Amino acid sequence: MSDMGAQIRGLGDQLRWAAEIRPPHLGTHSEVLFAGMGGSGIAGDYAAAIASANTTRLVVQKGYGPLPTWATRQRPLVIAASYSGNTEETLDLALSSHEKGLPVAVVTTGGKLAEMGRERSWPAVMVPAGLQPRAAVGHMVGATLKLLEGAHAIDDQRFALVEAADLVDATVAEGGRRWEEARAIATRLVGRICIIYAGGPITSPVAQRWKTQVNENAKMPAWWSLLPELDHNEITGWETLPELTSQSLGIVALVDRSDHPRIRARLAHTARLTQDAVPWVAEIASEGTSPLARLMSLTAVGDLVSWMLAEAAGVDPVPVATIERLKELLAEDHS
Ligand code: PA5
Repeated sequence: MSDMGAQIRGLGDQLRWAAEIRPPHLGTHSEVLFAGMGGSGIAGDYAAAIASANTTRLVVQKGYGPLPTWATRQRPLVIAASYSGNTEETLDLALSSHEKGLPVAVVTTGGKLAEMGRERSWPAVMVPAGLQPRAAVGHMVGATLKLLEGAHAIDDQRFALVEAADLVDATVAEGGRRWEEARAIATRLVGRICIIYAGGPITSPVAQRWKTQVNENAKMPAWWSLLPELDHNEITGWETLPELTSQSLGIVALVDRSDHPRIRARLAHTARLTQDAVPWVAEIASEGTSPLARLMSLTAVGDLVSWMLAEAAGVDPVPVATIERLKELLAEDHS
């Protein structure tokens, strides 16, 4: 088995690395468009949760251009984030933003994005290379926050980064309380498809992260659904196939103190109404004070669970051969 465990254990140090970055001067922006996909794109979702607490509107666009109409009118700062620097959707959006005269800043390890940025003098935070993009989430989130600080779009995140780093370290410490919690969840999820339920500003982006980590590390299907919306549709989807769903699926719920009280009530009622059709494996609560620490505390548990599921399935969590193959096929279309 390869070193995904070590990469997860390094998450705290990634956040500490970011705490030391001096933010570049980017002027003042209260509107930000974030371009990024997959393991890099999640940094935008986390940054949006933090930005909204700072009255900044941060919109994440996961896909190609063109720019949304609001952006051509409002002229936001565009942050293009790609760990490899070679993700075509992100490059496309960065270029269309530049062509429309919008300010662009970059988070990357290199690749074409770094090259494009150098040629056009885009401000950049360069992150250390050598990890899987999804395993560099501490670098990518931290670097994005530093760009937002440099744009006066959010408060100074230094203390939050250190708080998050300490919490993550405690979470991923083998044999610790959170580690054992992750182990118990993974044990119950073996042979099942994991569904993550959430419904708040902190928990919703983390639910997506859990899903994608199970996909990429354990190479298993997973999905996430959000409250209150799922109470208006998905809740009825548990009625017809209880023999199948009770044997093959499992729900993990994520909670945070910012959840609306009615979301808590909905979670409890939803669990009660569906528990015969699907096991509710666990409810995981965030820890910490700052939004970033709460995001990262839930993230670390999910990363551990996905890694433990890979281990239980005898799967190497590191390579993502199908994603790489797809990228090759798309590149061949151009040649
Ligand atoms: O985790 C992964 O490997 C993917 O989700 C990548 O992050 C995604 O394909 C985008 O690549 P990059 O992060 O290099 O822009």
